[in-house]
Amino acid sequence: MIDTSVEIAGVTLPNPVLPASGTYEVDEVHAGFFSPSELGAVINKTIFMNPRPGNPPPRIWETPCGMLNAIGIPSEGLERFLADQLPRLRSLGPPVILSIAGNSLQEWQDLAAAVDRTGSVDMVELDLSCPNLEEGFIWAADEAALSRVVASVVKVTRLPVISKLSPNVRDISEMAVVAERAGTAAVSMVNSYQGMAIDIGTRKPILGNITGGLTGPAIRPLAIHGVFTTFKKITVPIIGMGGIATWQDAVEFLLAGATAVAVGTQNFVNPLTMKEVIEGIAGYVEEAGFSSVRDIIGLAQE
Ligand SMILES: Cc1cc2nc3c(=O)[nH]c(=O)nc-3n(C[C@H](O)[C@H](O)[C@H](O)COP(=O)(O)O)c2cc1C
Repeated sequence: MIDTSVEIAGVTLPNPVLPASGTYEVDEVHAGFFSPSELGAVINKTIFMNPRPGNPPPRIWETPCGMLNAIGIPSEGLERFLADQLPRLRSLGPPVILSIAGNSLQEWQDLAAAVDRTGSVDMVELDLSCPNLEEGFIWAADEAALSRVVASVVKVTRLPVISKLSPNVRDISEMAVVAERAGTAAVSMVNSYQGMAIDIGTRKPILGNITGGLTGPAIRPLAIHGVFTTFKKITVPIIGMGGIATWQDAVEFLLAGATAVAVGTQNFVNPLTMKEVIEGIAGYVEEAGFSSVRDIIGLAQE
């Protein structure tokens, strides 16, 4: 038996596999495929302070080896989320990561402080990188804004802070350095790549929001490059994601330097993916003669 646990900012995950925010609902449908208690951690779809409708349809569009989405983060607002959803997430067993997003520095702080006060969350993830918001601003694409948000949030919470970074920048590894200097306890990468599609019949953009974010297998080599180049530059752990469809893809992220991995788009294609990835990573580690998943993190760097 090998040790599958990994540690992110002092929190032990029983295994390194979690859903990517916004791609996995803890509902009867998913629970019918495998028990969410088997996951390394659970995470919500990003929550805003106030209710918001999200973007007009169409919100998703299939592309070769991927998907464009411009959901725009509809949100029921913090209060209802904490009352209705958080107890359910908590009851599942794995560590709980709460994904939040603010529209101003004050809102980021208020959200983080409120999450801290619940006493039932293990880590908070800052979605600094959604490319599909009507406000149109990607916090993690601007060094000063990224630094200010992370530093302000760290001040008001005792919870470890994960900064979710944007690949829509010149060099994501430099943004990871900025987040670490501002006090982040971990980074997650990557969020979606800005993209769009045009209907040649109507001669108009297909998505209601005009632009969207590309995810799925098409972005995996780009995301691997991001993790690989970031690993050498920071000391805090990386949660790697972007196009993971199989356990082999997940192993690639661990070898590049990710301590944990998140599965997103593939959850819509095969709801058993995360279970298969958990088992596949353990099998790979055992077969290769290691005793712990931690032994393979960053091996491709050597
Ligand atoms: C439909 C959809 C909704 C998403 N919603 C969120 C979200 O609310 N918050 C967030 O941080 N990322 C969100 N993401 C981004 C994913 O968490 C992940 O970073 C991205 O999809 C890359 O991983 P993948 O290629 O495995 O999907 C969303 C992605 C998709 C496809």
